Amino acid sequence: MAAVKTHCAACNQRLPGASDWEPPELWVPEEGEFVGVVGMTRMGKSTWLKRWLKYLMAQEVTVYTWDPAREYSRHGLRRERTPLGPLLTQVTVSEVLAEPELLRVVEPDAELPAVAIVPNEVRPRRVDIAAGFAQAVPLILEHAPKGRVVLVVEECGLLEGNRQAEELLQEIATTWGKEDLAAAFASQATSQVPDRCRRQWRKVVAFRQVDTNDRAALTRLVSGGFSQRVARLRPHECVLADRTVAHGEALEEASAEGAG
Ligand SMILES: Nc1ncnc2c1ncn2[C@@H]1O[C@H](COP(=O)(O)OP(=O)(O)OP(=O)(O)O)[C@@H](O)[C@H]1O
Ligand SMILES: [Mg+2]
Repeated sequence: MAAVKTHCAACNQRLPGASDWEPPELWVPEEGEFVGVVGMTRMGKSTWLKRWLKYLMAQEVTVYTWDPAREYSRHGLRRERTPLGPLLTQVTVSEVLAEPELLRVVEPDAELPAVAIVPNEVRPRRVDIAAGFAQAVPLILEHAPKGRVVLVVEECGLLEGNRQAEELLQEIATTWGKEDLAAAFASQATSQVPDRCRRQWRKVVAFRQVDTNDRAALTRLVSGGFSQRVARLRPHECVLADRTVAHGEALEEASAEGAG
């Protein structure tokens, strides 16, 4: 991912019109740490998640993604101007169901599994995405190796309305943390993620979001001006809120920065 150029390479002066935004620092989540990654389409959620996963792989974390767009592994579908993610193995739903051991595959150039699970079809229908997620992702719980595991679930909004898929989202966020697992849930719309999943998010990485319903859902998660700040972000910028920190502190800082 190209870094946004904010300073002159020769004199280190800030470039005219450059944003003073800095990306939040990356971190290794604790077990049971659930993270929401929300924001409108094309704002940079998946790009941020690919960067985070690359960092986690370097920190010796086993990583999995539910990857309906086949964009997280080096074997994915290349799209113009959108780089593929760092994962090493790609498996379809049918392949995992037939051979769950594929979730433990360690590629010759790696020490731990880094597996993107994709729907069987290259251009899946919404109903197949939800069904594939509900069938294949539960196998991670039994077959992931010991040690820290991070699961990224992409496009949670596409799972809305499918009972099994919604129940699985809730189950991951309420019970999988006991298994040394952390997870991130990405969605274009905060309000489309089942409430019982959302309420377990310890952190929220928010990209630009202007829809009234989604901003109201965001305000219920992080109060005190966070959603106003999120509505003012530029494309590719995000802010991180830690819901374990007293809201006052985080938001005083946010509004001071917003006013500056
Ligand atoms: N920080 C960045 N710097 C430069 N380009 C970026 C950055 N973040 C994202 N992009 C580019 O913007 C486009 C959209 O990014 P991305 O696919 O991450 O968005 P998204 O929020 O996941 O969208 P969607 O919800 O539609 O999946 C891509 O072409 C990506 O390469
Ligand atoms: Mg995306």
